[in-house]
Amino acid sequence: MQGDGAYILDKKGNRYLDACGGAAVSCLGHSNARVIDAIKRQLDSLAYAHTSFFTSEPSEQLADFLVQRAPEGIEHVYFVSGGSEAMEAALKLARQYFVEGGEPKRQKFIARRQSYHGNTLGALAVGGNQWRRQQFEPLLIDVEHISPCYQYRDQRDNESEVEYGLRVADELETKVQELGADNVIGFIAEPIVGATSGVLVPAPGYFKRIREICDRHGILLILDEVMCGMGRSGALFTCDQETVRPDIVTVAKGLAAGYQPIGATLCSAQIFNRLSDGSGLFQHGHTYIGHATACAAALAVQQIIEDDNLLDNVNQMGALLEESLQQRFADHPYIGDIRGRGLFRGLELVADRSTKEPLPAELSLHSLIKSHGMARGLACYPGGGTIDGRRGNHILLAPPFIINESHVAEITDKLGHALDDALRDAGVLI
Ligand SMILES: Cc1ncc(COP(=O)(O)O)c(C=O)c1O
Repeated sequence: MQGDGAYILDKKGNRYLDACGGAAVSCLGHSNARVIDAIKRQLDSLAYAHTSFFTSEPSEQLADFLVQRAPEGIEHVYFVSGGSEAMEAALKLARQYFVEGGEPKRQKFIARRQSYHGNTLGALAVGGNQWRRQQFEPLLIDVEHISPCYQYRDQRDNESEVEYGLRVADELETKVQELGADNVIGFIAEPIVGATSGVLVPAPGYFKRIREICDRHGILLILDEVMCGMGRSGALFTCDQETVRPDIVTVAKGLAAGYQPIGATLCSAQIFNRLSDGSGLFQHGHTYIGHATACAAALAVQQIIEDDNLLDNVNQMGALLEESLQQRFADHPYIGDIRGRGLFRGLELVADRSTKEPLPAELSLHSLIKSHGMARGLACYPGGGTIDGRRGNHILLAPPFIINESHVAEITDKLGHALDDALRDAGVLI
């Protein structure tokens, strides 16, 4: 196996255009010399030291870098080894914030159906991915789930997109009232839903209303930007695009672009100060928190994104990809919706564009599209259960921030062929 920019080569020398970065991870492609060099330099100096004894320069610098660019009010960072760990830290931090504030009665989280926050038990419990939860259900803490913001399927004919967004956001108000605000810790959501439903972009005004409801009831807003954050949507923090300030925000995948495993939980000064003025300790920890080599890789990745103005490229190539997907698939009989932001795009498959009826789940179209994509030299990330964990299919695209016009054309072309091959294979297209 070998990485070559936006491509991965297998041992036979076959080239695959990586149009999904694994699961929206590899945002700088696969052979970035500056990142590799930064990792080597860190290994030569110090690979790792436990945070209970030492801090490290890369972790301090990375924390400063992120805080300087984070949404207003976010002032502290806790580095872990991935997205699920970042979410576990977020949940415990939120709970400890209320315990130390003399409100131990607060123990409920509210999250959304058709969401994913990780596979560890806490993160899985707040997630609303039915398929992933199913067999572990008896082990999961009791979490309340409200509707996702899923305009393509749930916006009514007689409402505007803003009215729709406010209607579903107001489900949070109803749920908080039902539970009693003094029992609720916080609300958790992905600003753009990733792999569970195939890139669901929020309706305009949705997150502003969510923030207002959280403020009204004194509950925390925890945003999971593990997949959509760190530039994927065209901004370092997607919540900035929504002009919404979270109390806690998590990032991971794009943070070190896959060159090292790392995630981060960022929080407001208010949360940090309560703990530091109180017990003086966040009662949490893992062996590899603040890992020096992982932080060095992430710092290099983030500096490259900034130095090379790659977010401009995300926005420009994102717009071009959108246009190219529209040209190819807007009239495709089995594509119902093309959506997304930046270099984070989703296509939803349907059996009938007018009724939006999904294709039969038994066809497992997502698996067929993946294998036909690979056969044509394209790695994309199709998923099933788009609508409710069982019905529906989508294709997720998350190419690296370094792509150019020819990569965009190659993605669309190969995806078009892979999709039609898969539909023929399934007997849908004759
Ligand atoms: C939105 C979101 N949150 C959390 C996670 C979990 O991250 P990890 O797989 O690094 O534990 C993922 C992974 O796909 C994700 O997409």
